[in-house]
Amino acid sequence: MTTIRLDPTHPDPEVIAHAARILRSGGLVAFPTETVYGLGANALDPEAVGRIFTAKGRPSFNPLIVHCADLASARALAAKWPPEAERLGRTFWPGPLTLVVPKRGRVPAIVTSGRSTVALRVPRHPVAAALLTEAGVPIAAPSANPSAQLSPTRAEHVLKALGGRVDLVLDAGEAPVGIESTVVDLSETDPVLLRPGMVDASQLEEVLGRELLTPVAPSGEGARPSPGMLDRHYAPRARLVLLGADGADRLAGETRKAKAAGKIVGALLLDVQPDPWIDVLVRMPFDPDAYARVLYDTLHRLDDTGCEVVFVESVPGDGRWAAVRDRLARAAA
Ligand code: TXA
Ligand code: MG
Repeated sequence: MTTIRLDPTHPDPEVIAHAARILRSGGLVAFPTETVYGLGANALDPEAVGRIFTAKGRPSFNPLIVHCADLASARALAAKWPPEAERLGRTFWPGPLTLVVPKRGRVPAIVTSGRSTVALRVPRHPVAAALLTEAGVPIAAPSANPSAQLSPTRAEHVLKALGGRVDLVLDAGEAPVGIESTVVDLSETDPVLLRPGMVDASQLEEVLGRELLTPVAPSGEGARPSPGMLDRHYAPRARLVLLGADGADRLAGETRKAKAAGKIVGALLLDVQPDPWIDVLVRMPFDPDAYARVLYDTLHRLDDTGCEVVFVESVPGDGRWAAVRDRLARAAA
C-alpha cells in the first residue's frame, strides 16, 4: 500500500491518473471528499465493490453511496429521475448531499445490497472531482473506516484503521466539512431525510417547496429505511457521555467519579467552566460548521490519547446544529 500526499486544490494530474488506473483495474483507493475520506472502488465492478465490504467488515445489507463526476452521470444511473432530484442536484451538487433514487440495471446488486434504489452523490472536493473525471466510471465509496467506527477526516485516520487493506491512500489533509453527507430518499412520493448533514433540512425544504419527512426509526430490531443508520455508529473507542442542560453541575460530579475509578477523562466543552480534574480538555467552536469540521478529528485524538470517557456539553437545539447533534447522539449510544 502507498500513501501519496497531494495539493487539495490543485492535485497533480499524474497522481490522479495513477489512482484512476488502480480503480479501473479493480483496486481500492482511499480519497478525500469534502465530507470525510471515502474508500473507493469502481461501482460497475462487483468484485471490486466486494473488496470494500471485506476491507471494512461492513455487513452486506448496508448499501454504498455511488459518487459521480456530475449531474448527468448521476442521472444515467437512475431508472427514474424525479423533478425533486433535478432541483436538489442543480442546487447542491457538487456538494455534501446524497440522493436515493430508483436504480438502473447497470448498477450491480452488491452496491445497493439488493435494493431497487441507489444512493448518488457528486462530491465537490477537487481531488474527488478530478479522480471521478479521470476514472471515467462512477466510484462506490463508503467512509474509509472499519464498520461502525469513527469516520476519517484525515489520511492518518484511514491509515490507522485500514492501512494495509487499501491499494492507495490519497492524502490531501483535512476534509473541510468533517461529517458525512445529508441523505435524502426521493424514491417514494414524499421526500424523506434519512441522514442529517451540513446541507440542512430547511435548505432542502426551501428548494423542494415542501416539508421533508423523517423516518420513523423502529428502535432495536426491525427493518430500517436506511440500513446504515444503526443507533451506535460513528463511535470512538472512548465512552461518550452527553451532558444535558444540567451540564455544569454534572461535569464536576461525573469527572470525580471517573477519576476515582482510575479513568482517563476527556471533555468537549462550549461554555461550561472546565473541571480541574479533566485530563484532556477541548474547547469546541460555538458554530455548527466549525464544530462539525473538527468533531471527528477531536474524537480520534482523544482516542489516541487513551481517553476512556469523554464528557460532551450539549450543543444548541436549532436546525443548523441537527447534524452535529445526530452524530454526537450516535457516538454516545
Ligand atoms: O459523506 C458521505 O456520504 C461519505 C463520503 C465518502 O461520500 N460516505 C458515507 O458513506 O458516509 P457510508 O457508506 O458511510 O454511508 C452511506 C449511508 C448509509 O447510512 C447507507 O445505509 C445509506 O447511505 N444508503 C446507501 N444506499 C442507500 C439506499 N439505496 N437506500 C437507503 N439508504 C442508503
Ligand atoms: Mg460510514
